[in-house]
Amino acid sequence: MKNKIKPTKHEVFFPEDRILVSKTNTEGIITYCNDSFIEISGYRESELLGQPHKLVRHPDMPRVIFSLLWETLKSKREFNAYIKNMAKNGDYYWVFANITPSYSSNNEIQGYYSVRRKPEPDKLNYIQNLYLELFEIEQQSTAKNAIAESRYKLDSVLNGREMGYDEFVLSI
Ligand SMILES: Cc1cc2nc3c(=O)[nH]c(=O)nc-3n(C[C@H](O)[C@H](O)[C@H](O)COP(=O)(O)O)c2cc1C
Repeated sequence: MKNKIKPTKHEVFFPEDRILVSKTNTEGIITYCNDSFIEISGYRESELLGQPHKLVRHPDMPRVIFSLLWETLKSKREFNAYIKNMAKNGDYYWVFANITPSYSSNNEIQGYYSVRRKPEPDKLNYIQNLYLELFEIEQQSTAKNAIAESRYKLDSVLNGREMGYDEFVLSI
């Protein structure tokens, strides 16, 4: 499914005390969203449920972040990331997301649960510059190499700080 919505340059915000919650199945298909998530997305609940979570993907996001997201979740670890999302009308909103696997009684992943908070603006400055760099690397690479090349850049930033990705995100 390709998202044909044209992104605008208009940012929308949500209050600090709001938490945007969504749940997906193992394939990333939305199975639940709370009212705050629905409201800022601009979609109706019926337009969200049953759709892939990439419905709210913003085209400015570097692909490497989602590659890391799935790699982390599938290895049964939680994932934290700053994510730029796109509303139904093309406006954008930044979130700080925590995504965790949920398990069946025999300890198999049965879906994912995600909680998003409003990011602190000064932290976003750093992330926006980093994501722009990663995005540009991906644009300049062939589709096949894009993620590997931006991952190389991200790893060099992490190595420079002597941190793993998780520690890095939480330290910004
Ligand atoms: C629980 C959960 C929450 C997610 N939340 C978002 C989100 O807020 N924004 C987003 O762009 N992708 C989110 N994703 C990742 C999408 O499933 C998807 O991988 C991403 O939008 C990139 O699309 P692509 O994998 O087709 O390139 C989430 C995935 C899961 C499992």
